[in-house]
Order: sequence, then C-alpha cells, then structure tokens
Amino acid sequence: MDLFEYQARDLFAKHGVPVLSGEVIDTPEAAREVTERLGGRVVVKAQVKTGGRGKAGGVKLADSPDDAVEKATAILGMEIKGHTVHKVMLAQTADIAEEYYVSFLLDRANRTFLAMASVEGGMEIEEVAATKPEALAKVPVDANEGVTDAKAREIVEAAKFPAELHDQLVEILKSLWTVFIKEDALLVEVNPLAKTPEGKVLAIDGKVSLDANAAFRQPEHDALEDKAAANPLEAAAKAKGLNYVKLDGEVGIIGNGAGLVMSTLDVVAYAGEKHGNVKPANFLDIGGGASAEVMANGLEIILGDPDVRAVFVNVFGGITACDAVANGIVQALELLKSKGEDVTKPLVVRLDGNNAELGRKILTDANHPLVEQVDTMDGAAERAAELAAAK
Ligand SMILES: Nc1ncnc2c1ncn2[C@@H]1O[C@H](COP(=O)(O)OP(=O)(O)OP(=O)(O)O)[C@@H](O)[C@H]1O
Ligand SMILES: [Mg+2]
Repeated sequence: MDLFEYQARDLFAKHGVPVLSGEVIDTPEAAREVTERLGGRVVVKAQVKTGGRGKAGGVKLADSPDDAVEKATAILGMEIKGHTVHKVMLAQTADIAEEYYVSFLLDRANRTFLAMASVEGGMEIEEVAATKPEALAKVPVDANEGVTDAKAREIVEAAKFPAELHDQLVEILKSLWTVFIKEDALLVEVNPLAKTPEGKVLAIDGKVSLDANAAFRQPEHDALEDKAAANPLEAAAKAKGLNYVKLDGEVGIIGNGAGLVMSTLDVVAYAGEKHGNVKPANFLDIGGGASAEVMANGLEIILGDPDVRAVFVNVFGGITACDAVANGIVQALELLKSKGEDVTKPLVVRLDGNNAELGRKILTDANHPLVEQVDTMDGAAERAAELAAAK
C-alpha cells in the first residue's frame, strides 16, 4: 500500500527522521488559518500517489495566508497523471542549499534489502539514475544485521556525501531504517533530503510503501488506507476476506486457486474476442476450502457488480473435492435467495478433478434454471462469453 506524502511524513516524524511541520487540508479556505499557524509562509503540495508533482505544477510556494488560499485553490482539483488532487499539504518552508536522495527498499532480484543514496537528488533523480548510474550508490543491507552505525557510514561514504554531514546522515539513515523495519515497509524514500544553508539536513519529501502482508501485525495501518479511492466492490470483498480484484469486463469469474483464476481470465478474454469483445469482470480466488459461505460471499460480490452479465465458476477439485464445491454452489444459491438476492444472471459452471462426476450430478439434480454446466474450461469460457454478449 502506497502512502500519501503527508502520511509518510508522519511516520518519519514518529521514528525520528527530521521533517518540517505540515498540515493537510481539503478546502482552499482552510489554507489561511493553517498558514498563519505555520508561520505565514508555506509550500502548498498536492497529495497524490504519483511522482512528478512539482513538474506538473502541484508544488507551489505561498508567501502569505492569502497567497496560500490562492495556491490551494489552483492545486485542489488538479489532475496529475490521472490522479485528481483531493488534498493538499501545507508545509513550512526551508531554504535549500543542496538536494540529496536516500531510500531503503526490498531488492527482490537479489533477495536482500538495498540502500540507495545520491548527492544529486531532487526532481531529476530518475534522470540521474538512468544517465549517470555511478552517481547513485547502491549498498545491500543484510536483513538480520540491519543498518548499524558501520552500515550507515558505508552508505554515506559510497554516496560521497560531504564529510561535515556524515554524523547527521548516519543518524537519519538509522531512523529511516527504523521506519522501514518497524512499519513493515517495502520502500522508504526521501527526495529531496535537503541541506539548509546552515548545514541542517531535513526530509522535505517522502514516499513510503507498506507491506500489506504485514497488516495483521500493524493494526494502525488500516487507518492509512485511502478508503475513498477504493473500489466499493473491492472494499466489500475485502471486508468478507475475499481475494478479489475488479476488472473492466462483463464476465464474472470465480475459481479456486490463483493460478487457475489467472488462466481463466486468459481463456475468457480469448473466447470473448468472438463474442463482442466481452472480457473478464474480475479476479476472484475462493481458495482451497470453498465452503458454501465463501461461495455465497463470492457470488454476492460478483452478482452485485452491475457490469457483470454472466458468471463463470471454474473449479478444479483437489483437497476440496468437486462434490463439496457443488454443494457449496447449491447452498450459496439458496442462501442468496433467502437473503432476497436471488440469482438473475446466468452461471456457467465447470467442475473437474477430484469427484467431478459426483459434483456434476449434484448440480444437475439441483436443476437451477440459470445454472449451466460445461465440462471443459475452454467450452465453459466460450459459453460464458456468449451469454455475456447476448444479454
Ligand atoms: N517545504 C519545502 N520548502 C522548500 N522547498 C520545498 C519544500 N517542499 C518542496 N520544495 C521544493 O520543491 C521541490 C519539489 O517538491 P517535492 O520533492 O515534494 O515534489 P516532487 O519531487 O515534484 O514530487 P514527487 O516526489 O511526487 O515527484 C523540491 O525538490 C524542493 O526543491
Ligand atoms: Mg520529490
């Protein structure tokens, strides 16, 4: 989960990385009072989860409370790379003599953590990384050892930071590493890490991406989620503990096992080319133990998607055999009916694998008017696409 800059700033402050005071607002009028509180001069910064805000005109200096209202008016509502600005952060200003770059991230390719640092930070860092890779120091960080004093010094020296800043930078790197570890982040980045004319080093802009797999031990992270931006169907699915991703198409997909669901998306997209170009409407993996309740929850989400015109349930029976899944489907349909959410869209079911015969018989005997069975995955995808196109 990527955070907004102001949330990253809060986490930096919590763990001792030096930052400037700032406040977030979502109406221009609020800028006046906040600017007064922050000392009368602020930087107005678009809060969007994308880079290049400054170049897009989303970062502007304001000399007075009135000016801040004007700048906030200009920035709120602006589009930056497809992201609408709903909030701006007003931050105290710093005089900046030099701009550096530092980050910690998970280096998947090398199965380690990585520190990156450069004395040539600021808005052109991507350019520096691409054209002058030697100016971006890369130092692996062992997960068990972490960032010790010695490791921090190694990073600082590799990046050729000015000697008089080394002690300060060592402390900042250790604090930033604390953010990375304590908050279960996948990325913490400071750009720019600014040096003031007085020689004080400050984190002026930050990016943090948190590891969603650690959510269970980070209860406070739930509050950082941008609930307004979440797709309502995805939010409902998440609340039910389902592995669901909304897509653009018309064919609802339910399968067991992520790999099977991924290939189901492919065969449906392929079959759809012949049927008005219909496409999968979602990814939904109900996992191994597909109980009636899980099946009902899955169907409820998918049938609640107004884009869905037909549903393809693709199950390969394994530890949970097909008869159990078939019973799950039958019970799910009854459960939905009893909740007044009767199925009104056609369902194509393909059962294969462990106890497939028995599973198919259960569905045949249930004789639900909208449930059709097709024995092969390709055939079922074809039929689901056809039904979605016909509707
Ligand atoms: N509080 C501040 N005081 C003084 N100057 C600032 C302040 N915040 C930002 N700036 C200046 O504006 C530039 C751009 O700001 P920032 O790094 O926050 O945005 P950005 O780099 O464009 O955004 P992104 O990181 O999303 O690409 C900084 O490099 C810095 O020179
Ligand atoms: Mg920046």
